[in-house]
Amino acid sequence: MGQVHYYFLFACVAVGYFSMVSATGFVINRTPLRVTAVNGFSWANCDSEGLPGKIHTLTVLPDPLSIPGEITVSTILNTTVELNSPVTVKVTAEKEFMHEWIKIPCLDDVGSCTYDDICDVLDQLIQPGQPCPEPLHSYGLPCHCPFQSGSYYFPVTSFYVPDIPLPSTFTSGNYRVTVVLSHGVQEIGCAKITFSLASSFSHWV
Ligand SMILES: *[C@@H]1O[C@H](CO)[C@@H](O)[C@H](O)[C@H]1NC(C)=O
Repeated sequence: MGQVHYYFLFACVAVGYFSMVSATGFVINRTPLRVTAVNGFSWANCDSEGLPGKIHTLTVLPDPLSIPGEITVSTILNTTVELNSPVTVKVTAEKEFMHEWIKIPCLDDVGSCTYDDICDVLDQLIQPGQPCPEPLHSYGLPCHCPFQSGSYYFPVTSFYVPDIPLPSTFTSGNYRVTVVLSHGVQEIGCAKITFSLASSFSHWV
């Protein structure tokens, strides 16, 4: 087990491939719905398209994950091309409703949103020229574009996940999130994540 770090660092680390938490990292505390648990997290690269970017491994524990609570993450991400600005991230979030997948709109940067340039977002979150925030710095991982081609190993690390207020579209149920990374017309990588949320309305916000 690694050290316990705070959610905004986790959000930085996860930008792009772990859209649910990365997106919620930007949410401000003004909606009444909160997530109490995440169950059955699973991931896959989109159908064998031979894209240059791939998730090699991704482990998120425990299952179920109670929120607030501790989350343990490890991943290996591969890319055979260098990632240069602009890197666009297109997130499509869907909820299962009567056996159909219904697209969730983009609200306050959460949901089915497109982020025009993740390189720019990283430069705004983390001052360029400064050491990368922990635990990235200790792991020798970069936090700004360009990201060279190669394999990026993020070892098993624990984070504390605080209360997550979400737009009220995120009620309990099954979710499917598709994340597509691209550079101009070139698709770099595509991942699908599925999970279930347990959420409840809080009356004191
Ligand atoms: C990712 O890179 C590692 C190390 O180079 C390699 O062993 C692994 O097969 C690669 N996985 C994928 C899915 O490309």
